[in-house]
Amino acid sequence: MAYETILVEQRDAVTLITLNRPQALNALNSQVLADLGAAFAAYDADPTQHCAVLTGSEKAFAAGADIKEMVDKEAADFFLQDFFSDWQTKVVATRKPWIAAVAGFALGGGCELAMMADFILAADTARFGQPEVKLGVAPGMGGSQRLTRAVGKAKAMEMCLTGRMMGAEEAERAGLVARIVPAAELLDDALKTAAAIAAMPPMAAMVNKEMVNIAFETNLAQGILTERRLFQILTATQDKKEGMTAFVEKRPGVWKGR
Ligand code: HXC
Repeated sequence: MAYETILVEQRDAVTLITLNRPQALNALNSQVLADLGAAFAAYDADPTQHCAVLTGSEKAFAAGADIKEMVDKEAADFFLQDFFSDWQTKVVATRKPWIAAVAGFALGGGCELAMMADFILAADTARFGQPEVKLGVAPGMGGSQRLTRAVGKAKAMEMCLTGRMMGAEEAERAGLVARIVPAAELLDDALKTAAAIAAMPPMAAMVNKEMVNIAFETNLAQGILTERRLFQILTATQDKKEGMTAFVEKRPGVWKGR
């Protein structure tokens, strides 16, 4: 499929999606959303693909929602189009694992998009921020909620109120990113990490993702019950039998994906 604003390639079982609006520092306009929505849906539906990496350029993962697209819109347009709701349904709804590999700016909607990933790998050049306050608005794609859950109230509040950027080291210390990688190695590392995930029993990977996400959606008792039920469901898969048998027989597992 042809996309206008992103590049998509498959490397064995890993889908690599690259934001490709360099002239606008990968600002997220409606076309980017349409392209990303279609690319994530295609990835989710493709039985040969088991992990994805979303990345940007060296300078910017994404510098935010496209301000030039928003500048003349009125409140009624945002409300009636339910602006930004599609990010939740088209990107966050992806059931298979995906990683955000972030170098350079991840600001506003760019930071929010990175936080929609299952986890973030950050180049040492990465800079995260929610500068919407400076534009007279506020995060609109989940930033105030996901950032607060990731780094806690103090840092999230400071970042949202001042719009200051957080560098990679601070982001790692604060729990926003899983790991920091030298910028030159970011893509290789992200693809290797994705390949390692793609080599896991696919249903188990999907269920692990779902379980961790449930921790953000519910209380502890309900989360633990849901975890136990999902665990029990996984034990009915052929890959559970294969995984445990392979361990006992001291050989690698061969997955059926069911
Ligand atoms: C549209 C953008 C853009 C954006 C950068 N550009 N960010 N266009 N929307 N979010 C464009 C610039 O206009 C410029 O194009 C080109 O990209 C290069 O940017 P420069 O500013 O010249 O680069 P630099 O001086 O290196 O500064 C980089 C930067 C700065 C610090 C990242 O671009 C910046 O502050 N961008 C805006 C960041 C931001 O406020 N993001 C939040 C957006 S609101 P031209 O053609 O002019 O040269 C949001 C959530 C909204 O994301 C949700 C609630 C409504």
